[in-house]
Amino acid sequence: MKYSFKIFRFDPSHDRTPHYRDYEVEADPKDRILDCLNKIRWEQDPSLAFRWSCGHGVCGSDALKINGVCTLACQKLMRDYEGSSFLLEPIPVLPVLKDLVVSMEPFFRVYRSLKPYLINPQEPPTVERIQMPEERKLIEDVIKCISCACCTSSCPVKTTENMNFVGPAALVKAHRYICDSRDTSTIDRLKSLDTKVGVWGCKTYFKCTEVCPRSIKVTKAINQIKRKIRNKSDD
Ligand code: SF4
Ligand code: FES
Repeated sequence: MKYSFKIFRFDPSHDRTPHYRDYEVEADPKDRILDCLNKIRWEQDPSLAFRWSCGHGVCGSDALKINGVCTLACQKLMRDYEGSSFLLEPIPVLPVLKDLVVSMEPFFRVYRSLKPYLINPQEPPTVERIQMPEERKLIEDVIKCISCACCTSSCPVKTTENMNFVGPAALVKAHRYICDSRDTSTIDRLKSLDTKVGVWGCKTYFKCTEVCPRSIKVTKAINQIKRKIRNKSDD
């Protein structure tokens, strides 16, 4: 079957403004969008830039805006969409480096600022820090995050209202350590998020939860952080 693609193109070393280029690809309805991108690059236009690595929804590097919705190109089949026309654009919010490739640096800068690692000053035990199954359950959902940035790029607050908002992906990562029984920095973590650009930047639009390719309940995790901050101030 023939599919048509309109793809965002921008090469800052040549172009003053972005433009769109049309391609036609012969593909099977069971093929993935990523397969079509590879076909275009291998058979029609080697100058087309896009990122991917694992091809199986694990690395998070091929997030794109497909027909207006941020998702992973390796997880979407042609038959998942109605019709045979596709509009492919880079995920919003992050600066475009070339075509469909964005700079993830601003995304990871925020991520790093929230200390995405275990903080525990106690001497590590000789074997491992024990966590009970019911404690692990509290972080089971959020540890599935692959930092693809689909949620942050789809968040209406981040895209239109408050660019400085840390965004849902960073809050998911913060939640992972706030609720980790082995981490001792909960109070400081909650304090650093108790701001308008922190957890209160979230207006509960649910867009993050809608688009997350790992089906993480992003809004629920953010609401749990809000609740913890409220309970802390009631103490
Ligand atoms: Fe991607 Fe979901 Fe993690 Fe957001 S929460 S970065 S959408 S995997
Ligand atoms: Fe790794 Fe899609 S290529 S998640």
